[in-house]
Amino acid sequence: MKSKDSHNRWWHGAVLYQLYVRSWLDTDGDGYGDLGGVIARLDYLSWLGVDGIWLSPTMPSPDEDWGYDVSDYLGVHPDLGTLEDMDRLIAEAGQRGMRVLLDLVPNHTSSAHPWFIDAAGGKGSGHRDFYVWADPGAGGGPPNNWLNATGGPAWTWHDSTKQYYLHNFLPGQPDLNWWEPRVHEEFRQILRFWFDRGVAGFRIDVAHGLYKDAELRDNPPELSGNPLAGRFGQQQAYNANRPETHDVYRDWRRIADSYPAARVLLGETWVGDPDRLADFYGNDDQLQLAFNFPFVFARLTAPDLSAVVAGTLAALPAEACPVWTASNHDVGRFPTRWCDGDQRKVRLALLVLATLPGAMVLYYGDEIGMTDVGVPLELQQDKMSLGSGQNGSSGEGGQNGGSTDGNGWQGNRDRARTPTQWDGSVAAGSTRAAAPWLPTGDSATVNVADQRDDPGSVLSLCRDLLSLRRAESGGQLASYQPLPAPPGGWAYRAGSLTVLANFSDRPVTCQDPGRPILLSTTGATPAAGDAAGDILLAPWQGIVARTAGVPPAPGRR
Ligand code: NOJ
Repeated sequence: MKSKDSHNRWWHGAVLYQLYVRSWLDTDGDGYGDLGGVIARLDYLSWLGVDGIWLSPTMPSPDEDWGYDVSDYLGVHPDLGTLEDMDRLIAEAGQRGMRVLLDLVPNHTSSAHPWFIDAAGGKGSGHRDFYVWADPGAGGGPPNNWLNATGGPAWTWHDSTKQYYLHNFLPGQPDLNWWEPRVHEEFRQILRFWFDRGVAGFRIDVAHGLYKDAELRDNPPELSGNPLAGRFGQQQAYNANRPETHDVYRDWRRIADSYPAARVLLGETWVGDPDRLADFYGNDDQLQLAFNFPFVFARLTAPDLSAVVAGTLAALPAEACPVWTASNHDVGRFPTRWCDGDQRKVRLALLVLATLPGAMVLYYGDEIGMTDVGVPLELQQDKMSLGSGQNGSSGEGGQNGGSTDGNGWQGNRDRARTPTQWDGSVAAGSTRAAAPWLPTGDSATVNVADQRDDPGSVLSLCRDLLSLRRAESGGQLASYQPLPAPPGGWAYRAGSLTVLANFSDRPVTCQDPGRPILLSTTGATPAAGDAAGDILLAPWQGIVARTAGVPPAPGRR
């Protein structure tokens, strides 16, 4: 049964929350957050105004890449809980009107997955073709020039069967061979298994990956340094980004749509061109949501952000739901990358994220303005960036607008994976263990407990924004119209809202949007400008007003 009617598209206008389970809340004292901790803080997420929770990887894994190396797609990692805990989490979230999305890793498995263990057993083994094996290249080395995410060869020699296997990430993450029909059938079953348990959707890891060039041709050079154009000097033309991948999503979409409450597919679509982003939505027959990395990597300036937004909306098919996010567990936290810890900028960025039409994804801690944490080398846990020599421990992020290494992340990724700063107590209230798995940031200064009680806090602003968003756009795709703005300013209409934002260190004069002004990031109403009908926005101030004559859309709940 098709369920494409707009009532069913709960993700339109939704607030999704990326929750890094290991760093959320530890309830069994082992130093790792767990599903029990997620359940324990569902009321907080509901209070904040979240519609859906995307859980970082929850499946069993040897944790070479913290769950992005799956050894069992139908289970729950014992560090995090049990299948029963997951069922309870889905049910309890549902009781609070929130959905649960899991992280699905279809590009590769763990080398500890039974499929790979069998495949490695011999050339004639049943699962051999589940992976990408190749003979040495002409010179006797790897079959081609493909590089993995650490910058080394994407091929590892497998001595006992005298072939190389492909891994676009770590050697412990062998790439699956999507030319093999049985891989498709396995993943259909995995999707159904979780959908049947009530999972509302998946964030799809490396969504642009999956198929590899059948002829294993060499990648061409890419010298721009733009993390979305390639990595380590190579365009990922043949080891990823193959057109056949779109057929997988057409297939999965049919499965997602076959549920009475449609399931949602959210792709980690690592592409730099809005037209290629649009390809992942297809003709409303592939992914319903696709991450917008050009937005993530844009600088925090009015021209850069507004250009990405305009370009995205022009390229996306009508009714496609854009996704706005600014932080994640790979690229780092926007309060550092974009804002260098400046609260005025954090507030303005939250305002923009919350008012653009589409779905927004907050990364845990964004709502309190958590910044990256400099993790000393001896405490670092991320083998991927340790392996690529990107283990800078300073935690600095800079603007991250294309000057990064070939992965698009800068420094060790642990810096954005540290425990949630719940309060100012030991380990930020995240665990009763002697030490959490990663050190905590400055929880005496920035924490949930203090900000919850403070109407002037970033957390209170964020909650107000989410509540305004829900009340005004009611879970629908708002229209977007840019408005004239002076240099440094960005002004737009989004449905019933008019947004004025000053991305500069100077006051800017804007046309008064009219009344009521529903929210201001500084808490203050802008002063009147010199001329009649003008207002003066303070440096880095943003305001939201109701657009004259445009009523709010009916609320979702
Ligand atoms: C993207 C994930 O976000 C990242 O954390 C992971 O290392 C790679 N994919 C490989 O799965």
